[in-house]
Amino acid sequence: SEERLTLGIESSCDETAAAVLRGGRELLSNIISTQIPIHQKFGGVVPEIASRKHIVNVMPVVDEALRTAGVKLSDIDQIAVTYGPGLVGALLVGVSAAKALAFAQDIPLIGVNHLEGHIFANFLSAQELKPPFMALVVSGGHTALVEVKDYNKFRMMGQTRDDAAGEAFDKVARVMGLPYPGGPQIDRLAKEGNPKAIDFPRALVKSGDYEFSFSGLKSAVLNYLNAQKMKNIEVNRADVAASFQDAVIEVLIAKALEAMRETNMDTLVLAGGVAANSMLEDRLRAAAEENGIKFYFPSRILCTDNAAMIACRGYYQALDGGFSDLYLNAVPGLGL
Ligand code: KG4
Ligand code: ZN
Repeated sequence: SEERLTLGIESSCDETAAAVLRGGRELLSNIISTQIPIHQKFGGVVPEIASRKHIVNVMPVVDEALRTAGVKLSDIDQIAVTYGPGLVGALLVGVSAAKALAFAQDIPLIGVNHLEGHIFANFLSAQELKPPFMALVVSGGHTALVEVKDYNKFRMMGQTRDDAAGEAFDKVARVMGLPYPGGPQIDRLAKEGNPKAIDFPRALVKSGDYEFSFSGLKSAVLNYLNAQKMKNIEVNRADVAASFQDAVIEVLIAKALEAMRETNMDTLVLAGGVAANSMLEDRLRAAAEENGIKFYFPSRILCTDNAAMIACRGYYQALDGGFSDLYLNAVPGLGL
């Protein structure tokens, strides 16, 4: 029924998260325990450390989600948990906790695809949003254009051949000596730079399909930095950040608009951690306005990893009978 309470659990990377959702759209709590400060000193996520921290954090985070929502575990009707894609050891912690709770409470378990979760974050930010729409998913691990035909019907239009957009942000930030995660750092630095200062490559922009490639761009930035160093020219770091970001955004927008033209869609939805990028949001909004497209993106806190989006995806999946049994396993390479 509309009033079902779903507990969501997320542990695919470096955030341990739990959330309680009433029905499909009413968020009662959204607790996120981030490990970013722990991984920062290593310049990226250390999988073994992530797993261990998830083990310590998962039950306290679930308890806090229940407490904040003002409900008891016995009030929960179903449990949705991320089972992939992600780090296998990290995923296993959330999956095991969810299975144990579902078994103990004798309630249904719903294994959720993390990427679908990112898309569904938009349903929590925009109550009026309904399929069909085009989703541009840009996270640390994935870059994809997904046609969302209905709540439980997706079609992959195309994805990245190599690095994800967020991964490129993180790697470029790393060579520039900026802390992990690099996306927000580049975002901030780029605000002071000229996006047209350096002409970085726009890979596959005219390839006629919906595939992306960002590893060449990353190398181009690295080569540029090295070349300037050889010539003893001091680089304008803000210009590098702005020009790199411009190259990523231009390709994302061009392909998203092309996919919308081909499928005759009028609504575009942004999803994933990179959706938090202020320039991407501004430029997509402008492009949408110009082309008569309705544009949605999640509120900042729902862009990056959280369990509210997992609970929301789980709720709609369950409406179509998408339950899992207690043999549910982590699938690190799960695709859409
Ligand atoms: O979706 P997410 O939280 O985790 C994955 O499922 O991968 O995305 C994390 C990614 C990281 O690469 C991070 O650098 C990037 O999102 N990110 C950003 C911004 N905030 C986070 N990238 C660009 N601009 C931002 N403001
Ligand atoms: Zn994510």
